[in-house]
This record gives sequence, C-alpha cells and structure tokens, in this order.
Amino acid sequence: MTPPTDIRRPLLAWYDANKRDLPWRSDAPDPYRVWLSEIMLQQTTVPHATPYFLAFTQRWPTVTDLANAADADVMAAWAGLGYYARARNLLACARVVAREHGGVFPNTEERLRALPGVGAYTAAAIAAIAFGRASNVVDGNVERVMARLHAVETPLPDAKPELKALAAAYVTRDRPGDWAQALMDLGATVCRPKGPLCERCPIASACKALKTGAPESWPRKTPKPDRPRRYGDVYVLTDGGHLAVERRPGKGLLGGMLGLPGGPWTSDRAKGSPPIPADWKRVGEVEHVFTHFSLTLTVHTASGGGWSGEWTDDPSVLPSVFLKAVRAANFG
Ligand code: ADE
Repeated sequence: MTPPTDIRRPLLAWYDANKRDLPWRSDAPDPYRVWLSEIMLQQTTVPHATPYFLAFTQRWPTVTDLANAADADVMAAWAGLGYYARARNLLACARVVAREHGGVFPNTEERLRALPGVGAYTAAAIAAIAFGRASNVVDGNVERVMARLHAVETPLPDAKPELKALAAAYVTRDRPGDWAQALMDLGATVCRPKGPLCERCPIASACKALKTGAPESWPRKTPKPDRPRRYGDVYVLTDGGHLAVERRPGKGLLGGMLGLPGGPWTSDRAKGSPPIPADWKRVGEVEHVFTHFSLTLTVHTASGGGWSGEWTDDPSVLPSVFLKAVRAANFG
C-alpha cells in the first residue's frame, strides 16, 4: 500500500488551496452546524442542501432554538429535502441535545452515535469535523476515492468494509476534520463518479485505477435490480389562491408531511376516485423517484370550495412529489 504520507501531504495541500467555501465550514466549527449539515448532506448534494442549511440556521440559530420549534414548522422547512424520517429524527436529536445534554453536543464518536438519527458515518463526521477526533469518516465519495486509489475489485456494496479499512490507514490525529473533508471534496469535484478530472488530481500518481486507463470503471458495482413502478392519482383543488391539502399519517413514506388528496400508490393502474365531487380535469402525469420505487402520478385539477380539510396558500411547504403535481396543474 502507498505510504499514507505520500497521499496526505498533497491532498491536504490541495484542500487548503481548493476547498469549497461552504457555510458550515469554519476554523472554529459549531457542532450544531456540522451536525445539521451532515444530516442534510446524507440526503442530497451540497448545492441543493446549502439554501436549506442557511434557512434553518437563520431561523433556528442554536440547537436549543431548533428543539423548541413546532414539529410542523420543521417538517415544512425540510420539505423538498426528501426522506422525512430524517426531519423527525433531526427534531428528536435536537430535543435530546437541548434537554439531556444542556444544549451541548457530546464530543466523542461513541456518545454522538447514541443520538437519534446519528449513524456511524454521521457520528464519525461530527467527531472529526467539530471536535478534531481522529475518526474514520467514510461516505460514498470516500469509498469511490479508495476504490480507485487501490483498484479494489470487490464490487459495492460488499466492498464497504474493505474500503473502510483502506480509508482508516490514512487517518491520523493531524487535522482529521480537514482530512475527511479533503477526501469528500476530492470525491465531489475531481474524483467524480462520471468524468473524473484526473489531470487535476493531487494524488493521481498513486492511483491504481488511473494506471489501468479506465478509472471511471471503479468502484466496481453489483448490478441493481430495476426499481419497481407504482401508480396513483392526485387531485389539485384550488379555490382562489388556496390549495386543498391533507396531513399524511405519521408513519410511512412522507409521514407527517402535508400532501395532496389522492388514493394509494399501487403497482397496477387502478383508476382513483376524487376526494370530493367537482368538475375534475386530467392535466397529465408527473414522475418521481423514491429510494425503493418510481412513481407515476396522474394529476387532476378542479376549482371550487367544498373541501372540508386544510387549505394552504403556500405550495412550497409540500414535498417535491406533490409540488411537481401542483406545478403540472399550473398552480404555484
Ligand atoms: N458531504 C458530507 N459532508 C460533507 C462536508 N462536510 N463537506 C463536503 N461534503 C460533504
């Protein structure tokens, strides 16, 4: 294996010169901001997460402010980030930190791991970035960098333990937070999944995948079965500037979020039935990809009152899948 110093020195120097200017990065990182950014970044990319991060920290500047927020306000602010179980855990975690730890995040990987919604990766990331602990922070970017650097033939996901062990060999007590983020930035901006920019890579000379001439073909992957498809109907009922919405059940997909009225999502194209009688018009279909299935929703629209449930004048509180339907119906 390449001696760690051969890679650490050039990669940290590259990071010092090229690191992305991200709002949670600081010479004196705030654990609350590090935690919040890591939870958001499990879900989406840096460009998508950044405006949400700024909105959350402006509205709830400390973990105690977030702990005191109303559930519905946090769920609405999370809308568009997807996977709402994370937003529920986010709030649960903020409340544990505020109420059981006096508003101060624990500073070891092990105690961070005990917080709601904080898994092995997140605990390692917070420990390294916020507290300077020498933890091994391995996300998808780091896995890709390691798989290429060492030309690991085991396909993902089986390769995960091997990639984690390879990454561990480079972690030292010198700048662990910068090291973790240097690998992440390299993975995100240079050692990209498609079209890696090897000519810009500070550790190209050590990369075994590059020597084969086809670095892009790492990490090796076990082919995934196709996502199943489900179908459903949604109903966009408007009354002047207002939109009929309903609160989804607390458990399950998009649990506790506002949604549009509509029937269940099933694998056949069973015809749905409107929530109330009105002059419904079919306006088209929208597609949305969830982790475990793809969804085709048929969008129907009508105007008028008669809806006995909730109304909103702000469709942006809706999860993305419903926002697509609202836009297809030319509202919002
Ligand atoms: N992805 C997850 N956490 C990150 C961080 N701190 N910097 C860059 N990319 C990340």
